[in-house]
Amino acid sequence: MKDYKRTLITAALPYANGPIHIGHLAGCYIPADIYARYLRAQKKDVKFVGGSDEHGVPITIRALKEGVSPQDIVNKYHAQIKESMQQMGISFDIYSRTSDKVHHETAAAFFKALYDKGLFEERETEQFYDEKTNTFLADRYITGTCPVCGNPNAYGDQCEKCGSTLSPEQLINPRSTLSDAVPVKKKTKHWYFPLQDYEAWLKQWILEDHKEWKANVYGQCKSWLDNGLQPRAMTRDSNWGIKVPLPDAEGKVLYVWFDAPIGYISATKELTENWADYWCREDTRLIHFIGKDNIVFHCIIFPSMLKAHGGFVLPDNVPANEFLNIEGQKVSTSRNWAVWVHEYVKDFPGCEDTLRYVLCSNAPETKDNDFTWKDFQDRNNNELVSVFGNFVNRTFVLMHKLCGGKVPPLHGEVLDDADKAFISDIQQAPARVQAALDNFRFRDALFEVIDLSRKGNKYMQEKEPWILAKQLTADNPDREASQQKIDNCLHLCLQLTANLAILINPFLPATARKLLHMMKVVERMLDWENAGKLNLLSVGYSLRAPELLFRKIEDAEIEAQLEKLRAGSGQQPVVSDQSSVISDQQAVVSGQPSQVSDLKPQISFDDFSKIDLRTGTILTAEKVQKADKLLKLEIDLGFEKRTIVSGIAAHFSPETLPGKKVVVVANLAPRKMRGIESNGMILMAEDREGRLVFVAADNEAPDGAAIR
Ligand code: 2FM
Ligand code: ZN
Repeated sequence: MKDYKRTLITAALPYANGPIHIGHLAGCYIPADIYARYLRAQKKDVKFVGGSDEHGVPITIRALKEGVSPQDIVNKYHAQIKESMQQMGISFDIYSRTSDKVHHETAAAFFKALYDKGLFEERETEQFYDEKTNTFLADRYITGTCPVCGNPNAYGDQCEKCGSTLSPEQLINPRSTLSDAVPVKKKTKHWYFPLQDYEAWLKQWILEDHKEWKANVYGQCKSWLDNGLQPRAMTRDSNWGIKVPLPDAEGKVLYVWFDAPIGYISATKELTENWADYWCREDTRLIHFIGKDNIVFHCIIFPSMLKAHGGFVLPDNVPANEFLNIEGQKVSTSRNWAVWVHEYVKDFPGCEDTLRYVLCSNAPETKDNDFTWKDFQDRNNNELVSVFGNFVNRTFVLMHKLCGGKVPPLHGEVLDDADKAFISDIQQAPARVQAALDNFRFRDALFEVIDLSRKGNKYMQEKEPWILAKQLTADNPDREASQQKIDNCLHLCLQLTANLAILINPFLPATARKLLHMMKVVERMLDWENAGKLNLLSVGYSLRAPELLFRKIEDAEIEAQLEKLRAGSGQQPVVSDQSSVISDQQAVVSGQPSQVSDLKPQISFDDFSKIDLRTGTILTAEKVQKADKLLKLEIDLGFEKRTIVSGIAAHFSPETLPGKKVVVVANLAPRKMRGIESNGMILMAEDREGRLVFVAADNEAPDGAAIR
């Protein structure tokens, strides 16, 4: 690798049109943060910049929906996103926003520089226009019926139901979302960037000079370049955005994908007066962390803009991740199928590192991956608690019990093979972690760290210092040898603990700081150059009592999250399992028969017998206020009456439900929904038309009968 003097890390600017979810974290913020922390620990000159993307159609649509101004929207969500980033330990050197003055000036000057070079081609085209509101309509502002699947609510650029890419002309019965007017065509002028002129250069720069880029990134670039590039309009008709800095450009703003990446430059300007060192010097390494939907903008369009402008460095790498699905389904903010970061930090206070851990160890680095709450629980309980946390805890407890709370000496003359192998494991681990991190393989790197703590547990288990302690009786002539073995074991385990603090620091920074506190050592110990050393804690130094690094996550917490996901999205599970949900949107909107889902993995009879299914009858049903999807049901279970909140309001009118026989999961942990405690869940299935139907018990069975 070239000898770079400094690194500039950017992470995609999220649209300030809503909160961030775990897909955002997994896609780019966690890998970017790990990388920034790793380089800082290596004492590299590094800056990590980010901010909110506050222009473009998503913002104006949100403003329209909420009946407020775009500025109100970005103010609200910028603050919320910034706080979520901080809470998750995303250590930006600056988290800026594109509505800042510096950015408006920087982006406008960039455009003007390209204009002055005569690079833009002015073109007059016909675009859709809403005559009622006197506005040109971005494709997203036009809805109509999808010509492919018949969805009556398809957008002018895409049908969210069947995924088809569309143009407004293809929609049947197009309508303006602003006024419901039928859009008409009207002439408008825009400035086009000649992307095709950069095709040959891009082919050389990416396909030949950057063969080391991740396969998913390289592949997407290749396919764009193989298909040939077209001129691209860099301006839009809108009153929200950065005004086009030309005299004859009333009502025109910069295209959001022109201004947003320049936001990285503006943020660096706000951060440091030496910003040009990070943007204009060949010995700077620029790395863009993004999700896969941003690849074309960061690998093709923005580099071409930088090249056209001249004087800027180009990205050295763009380690984009794929998408993270949730419980087997794509994240959908409109359907509320998401795990929101601001909600996670409230529901699991102090467990930010657990989420960082799960999102990194299961990161969609090479393909789309699935987040499930069960996997979240398993990784926390079986890896963080049982392996890493357990090793550290045992080491500290035994050191206090058997070595008076002080770092015991190392008796080099009596080291055996197991001790030597363990020493070598500690010494060799950093190189493996480093090799993975240097190549943006964050999952592998984290695995190496956990594996090292696993080796610590194994070593401790083999040495059994608690058994050796029994041999310390005054009448035992070998007691000194036993004490030496105890000392060696705990000395090495403590040195490993210090090493683990260094290695885990980029991934789980809060955990690393807890370890520092327990070891009473200063932050400087976390410098990467200390990794692999065996003298990080001095003999005789007294250490604090252990504190809990990770807590166990209980089944009820997981069940509550699954309930929240289902209730929030209006989905109803077939049985009490996170993976078997049916989408009521699909069922109702499409009218298509649902597909038979795959059988889930086999379970034991014991697993099954934990679920208590009972027959019941609906006594009353009423809508839950301010929750379109929810009904509050009173269910007679024979032996008691239950309140159950169910996400079926879109499918049944409340008045049709009393008297219906149902099957209830009766031993589900209670869950509050919209302030109402729900005590159980009703089983549902889809009929042939894909509509929801109740799974009813035999009419002969009395209420409360157990289903076996
Ligand atoms: O996809 C998005 O959320 C965009 N707001 C990302 C912009 S990244 C950069 F160019 F600013
Ligand atoms: Zn469609």
